[in-house]
Formats: sequence, structure tokens, C-alpha cells
Amino acid sequence: MMNTALSQGIQPEHTIKSFVKRSGRLTQSQQQALDNLSTKYLIDKRLEDGTFSQFFEEKLQRHYLEIGFGNGQSLLHMAQSHPFDQFLGIEVHTPGIGQLMNNLHQQTIDNVKICTKDAATLLRDDIPNQSLDGILVFFPDPWPKRKHQKRRLVQQDFIDIISQKLKTGGMFHMATDWSDYAKDVLKLLKINPHFKNMAKNDNFHFRPNYRAHTKFEKRGEKLGHQIFDIIFKYLP
Ligand SMILES: C[S@@+](CC[C@H](N)C(=O)[O-])C[C@H]1O[C@@H](n2cnc3c(N)ncnc32)[C@H](O)[C@@H]1O
Repeated sequence: MMNTALSQGIQPEHTIKSFVKRSGRLTQSQQQALDNLSTKYLIDKRLEDGTFSQFFEEKLQRHYLEIGFGNGQSLLHMAQSHPFDQFLGIEVHTPGIGQLMNNLHQQTIDNVKICTKDAATLLRDDIPNQSLDGILVFFPDPWPKRKHQKRRLVQQDFIDIISQKLKTGGMFHMATDWSDYAKDVLKLLKINPHFKNMAKNDNFHFRPNYRAHTKFEKRGEKLGHQIFDIIFKYLP
């Protein structure tokens, strides 16, 4: 029988996940952070009770979203060096979420909120259109095998959705150590008339100093991989 949603031309829900939850035991301090600091940092409940929009209330501040923050090294660094901006981090890896909460608490950093929902769903359902000054994706899961590449987070449907969520002049920044992933994304953005490459040579960008040197970047370097930064501005 024909799927009703498809037969009506309605896009089915995004079902292919860009992640597999990594295993990894929670340390005692990560568990304590999850128990004691979730009320302060997690916005998951606010998505349910409808108060999430408060995150975007302060119009004079800039709002950035980091997708897949891992253990939060980049997010911590950016939030610390840009105390007047607001950051929302999305991650599904529980030990990393606990670690970031501990670090935010210890360093009294108050401009970060965390969400544990799948980024594709959060973007589609919860982030208001034209609300973000920047979307950052550092070292997304590479899914190197050809048969798995449909699971890559950054592809055409992702670019379509972020173009709805970015403000005019908002930027998209991705970093990866997988050259075929980097080349595919660069190509998709270069042919998109609504995005302008911020790299002078219309190719890859130099590494901006706000991007911290993360665990996954180090892993790529150990494998002898080159690191690629892709930075485009949304200019509809
Ligand atoms: C390879 S790690 C990189 C982590 C970090 N950005 C870094 O550079 O160290 C990719 C992370 O993205 C997260 N991730 C992948 N797809 C996601 C999604 N759809 N929603 C939320 N997190 C996601 C994974 O759980 C994983 O921790």
C-alpha cells in the first residue's frame, strides 16, 4: 500500500540518524553533573513546556548553535571568549554532556545551554526561523564507507534547513578531517546562491582562532589527515 504521507507529497520525518550513541562509562563527577546541574543547563524540559523561546528573547545578543559538541571543548572556549553571546550546544553523548556541565559550573560560564535531542529534529521543530547568528559543526561523524554516507549530517537537506534558521548574514562553519566530506559540502555551498564563501580564494577557510583544538581533530591529525574549515555566510 502506498505511504499516505508520500502520496500526499508530505516530506516523511527525517529517520536516518547521523549518530550512533558512543559507548563510554559515566565518571562519578559526570553523573553528579547530570543529577545536579541539568536544571540549570539543559533546555529539554523547556522544549516540552513551551518556554524555550526565552533563549532567543534578548535581541541585542548573538545566538550560536553548536551541533555535536562532543565533550564541549569548543563550546566552552567560545562561550568564555564571547561572554555577551548566547550559545546552545546539542549532543547525545551523555558523558560529554556531563563533562561540559561540570566545566561550565566550575568556570562560572553562564551563556551556554544544552540540548540532548537529535539536531535534525531540534532544527526542524524547535529553532525559530531566522534566529541564529551562527551554526557550528566541528568534526561531524564522517561515515567514511560509501554505503553509510547517507548518514552524514551535512548534506543538501541540512543546508536547506539551516538556510531557514540562520539570520541574514549568519554564518555556517564546519570543520572536518575527511577530505571527501569537506569537498562535497564545499561544492554544495558554492553552488547555492544564498551562501557566500568567506574564504578569500573561494576554497577552504583558514582556521579561525575561536575554534578550539578538539579530541576529534587530534585524532584526525594522528591519522595524518588534513583539516578543512568551511565558512559561509547566509545572504538570501
Ligand atoms: C566525531 S564527534 C565530534 C565531537 C566534537 N565536535 C569534537 O570536535 O571533538 C561528533 C559528535 O556529534 C554528535 N552527533 C552526531 N549527530 C548528531 C545529531 N544529529 N544530534 C546531536 N549530536 C549529534 C555525536 O554524538 C558525536 O559526539
